[in-house]
Amino acid sequence: MRNKVWQSGVKLLTAAAALGLAASFCSTAQAEAPYKVEGNAVDQATFKGWKLYKRQRCETCHGPTAEGGAAFPNLLTGLKNMSEEDFKATVLNGRNNMPAFNGNKAVVDGIDGLYAYLKGRSDGAIPAGELKELP
Ligand code: HEC
Repeated sequence: MRNKVWQSGVKLLTAAAALGLAASFCSTAQAEAPYKVEGNAVDQATFKGWKLYKRQRCETCHGPTAEGGAAFPNLLTGLKNMSEEDFKATVLNGRNNMPAFNGNKAVVDGIDGLYAYLKGRSDGAIPAGELKELP
């Protein structure tokens, strides 16, 4: 009997700890966007991501606003349903008609900024077009 009470106490504590963890995880996940933006000025990594998007031909297929076209997916909607890991795997390994970029050093090194830029575009936080770098 005594043992049973102790066991359910432990279960309750474990459940409470799990809930607490989940809550703190959710709030930090929400608070931390991978980019900083003020108007059309973004942090350095995101700025580099924007340059990569233009220079590494992402723009050629996915369009200057990243909204895609007939044969190319819209990355603004695409990134809403995609984890950062999925994004990186798709860009680095390629998929169907999407070329692999794992042999492209600039893209490999700048993948975080590329993700930050497109995530910001997808969130509606970063405007299309010319960007500046935050001081
Ligand atoms: C030659 C054209 C082409 C280029 C260049 C290209 N892509 Fe793609 N991309 C595609 C195609 C086609 C798909 C759809 C793949 C499929 O059908 O599975 C795609 C898919 C994607 C997806 C997945 C979208 C989703 O909703 O699942 C992401 C993310 C992506 N591309 C990002 C990029 C980035 C970043 C670059 C530049 C580093 C880039 N692409 C360059 C053609 C291209």
